[in-house]
Amino acid sequence: MRKPIVAGNWKMNGTLESIRELVAGLKAGIGEVNVAEVVVCAPAIYIAEASALTGGTAIALGSQDLSNAASGAYTGEISGSMLNDFNCQYAIVGHSERRHGRGESDQLVAEKFKAAQDSGLTPILCIGELLEEREEGVTEQVCARQMDAVINAYGVAALQNSVIAYEPVWAIGTGKTASPEQAQEVHAFVRSHIAKQDQLVADGVRIQYGGSMNAANAAELLAQPDIDGGLIGGASLKSEDFLTICRAAG
Ligand code: PGA
Repeated sequence: MRKPIVAGNWKMNGTLESIRELVAGLKAGIGEVNVAEVVVCAPAIYIAEASALTGGTAIALGSQDLSNAASGAYTGEISGSMLNDFNCQYAIVGHSERRHGRGESDQLVAEKFKAAQDSGLTPILCIGELLEEREEGVTEQVCARQMDAVINAYGVAALQNSVIAYEPVWAIGTGKTASPEQAQEVHAFVRSHIAKQDQLVADGVRIQYGGSMNAANAAELLAQPDIDGGLIGGASLKSEDFLTICRAAG
């Protein structure tokens, strides 16, 4: 069975002080989370602090991005091996705020996916359609294209050590969650798309839902058969809300 995974994406929020408070709150309640794997993805500059705060706890650490390069003259970039130095285990790649907000191409995202794995990090590959793409009826084509950038470059087996996050862009930070049926439909498609090439990889890969998941709507989303966890933005900034979602995951 797939172990549910709930990841908080703090985005560019917080201060040193608020992050200390948030992690203290998470540590106080993490014992009640029995099944789900719990990850927090801190802003890069706070990763060292988050690493110290979460060390020895059941809270795993992730980054929100990483460089596609291993090292060298890339001003402002952070490599997988640097993240490794601070015990990061996960790296989000291809978040829509980077694809659409920072112009990252499918190919660059695929290279970041590979760079994460090359450093022993588990990539969380974000995919998902824009509102106009959903309205045009091309949601599945968009998700397939974003996955194929990785599959065609590195093989379907590369998905084995990864997490996929289906995040409809119109649901991110908008308060407009996909209905459980809408989300399940795409999650099932994502899994079937992988199954066309490798049934075992498809059965094993964990697919998170992301986009305005919160303490109130998490349980019914997480109850869907192909939803294996969540990637949580806004609701991950309050420890109680985030823990409620983690408990709902199992
Ligand atoms: P949200 O963000 O929960 O604030 O909608 C989700 C995400 O961007 O990962």
